[in-house]
Amino acid sequence: MSAKLIDGKAVAADVRREVAEQVGAMQQKYGRVPGLATVLVGEDPASQTYVRMKVRACEEVGMRSIRKVLPADSTQSEVEALVRDLNDDPEIHGVLVQLPLPGHLDEEAVLSSIDLTKDVDGFHPVNIGRLAMKGREPLFIPCTPHGILELLDRTGVQLEGARAVVVGRSNIVGLPVALLLMHRNATVTICHSRSRPLSAFTRQADILVAAIGRPEMITADMVKPGVVVIDVGVNRVDDPTRARGYRLVGDVAFEEVREVASAITPVPGGVGPMTIAMLLKNTLISALRSSPL
Ligand code: GUN
Repeated sequence: MSAKLIDGKAVAADVRREVAEQVGAMQQKYGRVPGLATVLVGEDPASQTYVRMKVRACEEVGMRSIRKVLPADSTQSEVEALVRDLNDDPEIHGVLVQLPLPGHLDEEAVLSSIDLTKDVDGFHPVNIGRLAMKGREPLFIPCTPHGILELLDRTGVQLEGARAVVVGRSNIVGLPVALLLMHRNATVTICHSRSRPLSAFTRQADILVAAIGRPEMITADMVKPGVVVIDVGVNRVDDPTRARGYRLVGDVAFEEVREVASAITPVPGGVGPMTIAMLLKNTLISALRSSPL
């Protein structure tokens, strides 16, 4: 039997509609709307695309977006000075520095310079630290992991007591999603490129989160019948039949795994749209803290 498709595009549209309603209410009550500042250092084409999508999404829900672009050879103090200016602007409720930064910059120092109350990406070391600790609340939950939890909840997946296996240990997805699942009382295993044999771990999963960045690496023989699969991968593979010469695939071999799983996210249209939806939600949450409805 084929798995239920977890439609991230539809869930993200619901979240965006909910955010747009509250932005409208804020405009009515206070005559102002939430503002998100994006900072892009350099000209990485993928990062340019992501920032463009974030700016457009802001505008679509009625938020203000402030777009800052710095040259790739900017110094540490130039980047941090820009972040501090944005921190000081009361019209800005979220400050997002697009990652990765050029190699000569100290990423942790830049992320630490973001005002904790405007850290809508949730990447400030204090926010991540609070996320890791029992009984501490981060001000913001990182967007992709937050989106994954939202998809699982809206699909009615039971997390408490479930065996969750996360493949990938990145700061942006693998680590924080594992922490969130743990806080929801799942039993969590984190696997990575050195886990041997990977399939021995993945086959135990009731919930499998694939965030490795390797095209179609998770195959049907690596999963248990009935597993819920969340595919975070976005990989380009050559495809001469497509006008642009490539197609996007996830970290999961979708066609074969869908025959074994009970539910699965497609790529594209699964986790991807949720990241931006949760960024908008975090920006709204930030603005509501100073202007409650
Ligand atoms: N690079 C890859 N994903 C993200 C994200 O969610 N936020 C930022 N700022 N940079 C990223």
